[in-house]
Amino acid sequence: MYNKRELVKDIYYVGVNDRQKKLFENYIPIPNGVAYNSYLILDEKVTLIDTVDVSMVGLFMGKLEAVLQGRKIDYLVVNHMEPDHAGSIGLLKQLYPDLCIIGNAKTFGMLNGYYPQLAGCRQLVVKEGESVSLGKRKLTFYMAPMVHWPEVMVAYEDTDKILFSADAFGTFGTLDGDYLDENINTDKYWDDMRRYYACIVGKFGTATQAAIKKLSALEIRLICSTHGPVLKQNIAKVVGLFDKWSRYEAEEKGLVIAYASMYGNTQQLAEAAAEGAVAAGLKNVVVYDVSKTDASYILADIFRYNGVILAAPTYMNEIYPLMDSLMHKIEQRGILNRSLGLMGSCTWAGGALKKLTAFADAVKWELVSNPVDNKQGVSADDYQKAFDLGMAMGQKLLQ
Ligand code: FEO
Repeated sequence: MYNKRELVKDIYYVGVNDRQKKLFENYIPIPNGVAYNSYLILDEKVTLIDTVDVSMVGLFMGKLEAVLQGRKIDYLVVNHMEPDHAGSIGLLKQLYPDLCIIGNAKTFGMLNGYYPQLAGCRQLVVKEGESVSLGKRKLTFYMAPMVHWPEVMVAYEDTDKILFSADAFGTFGTLDGDYLDENINTDKYWDDMRRYYACIVGKFGTATQAAIKKLSALEIRLICSTHGPVLKQNIAKVVGLFDKWSRYEAEEKGLVIAYASMYGNTQQLAEAAAEGAVAAGLKNVVVYDVSKTDASYILADIFRYNGVILAAPTYMNEIYPLMDSLMHKIEQRGILNRSLGLMGSCTWAGGALKKLTAFADAVKWELVSNPVDNKQGVSADDYQKAFDLGMAMGQKLLQ
């Protein structure tokens, strides 16, 4: 019942689409779903690269059997232990009890914790640059720690120049009808890829830079990541995007205005700032209500654009909680070199602006103009100050 999906001779795509899950890692919305990619190499040693989320294990096993046609799996390469890829190892091992798991020392530290029943199972521990022969082909392993967990490694197949890259160069979004980029319109993936990067790998810019530098020595014709299309035509584009994002370099000039507002007053400050920025000639201006738009979308645009204005009311003498949460997520990711504008509001005693200013100090972004400090309703003077902040920001970002 399953079509065999041969990527190159004797290497098959055996991944699955997850169209049911609403929240990746149970907190990041994935309206376009996600694919858990897995690859099967038929050689003297039949070798599987990564597994899939355990919720899809039945479908996965069916796809494996369609290719295996009764053969057994000899090696399982575990490039990444996060359960969206390692979740089916326990069941796979029950079906193929003789299979040997290939990982690095850190892989097995985690494997033993997740699967104590597999302690002492057949395993092959590989180190940086070490190769394992599969017969005609061989795989060479390179460590890519913190892209996205400490045990992450990638595997390189040098006959067809394929990089099995774990989470690196992946994206949210299911694979609709085909898994290879040259057979599909990939435009639908770019926004999801930025959001995937911002949410999953965004904190680990230095690690991603190290991995890109290391892998640049390899000739790569195909990138097989754990999520999203197999890359053939888009290798340079995607590696370029991951390179830019991991250097925290904005893709283009633009402004993200993220605001919190209970009764619409702080929203008016955000509207005024947006008008000011556009009046300055800036075309890329996006305004988000943090209570309505999930932080993953806001973070993605902060990776995309070079300017940010945050506006929030005081709440319990501090700051509106969803803005607090957004600031924390930005700070966690260590995003560098953005221009920042701040607007705080209150009804009796301030608190929001103090928190916003502390955030500015923590992230060390360049503050543009004085913060706008609003009390109660938005006066004409407040509106003008917010407009002026937006205009100053627009001018700054266009420099
Ligand atoms: Fe797709 Fe970090 O797992």
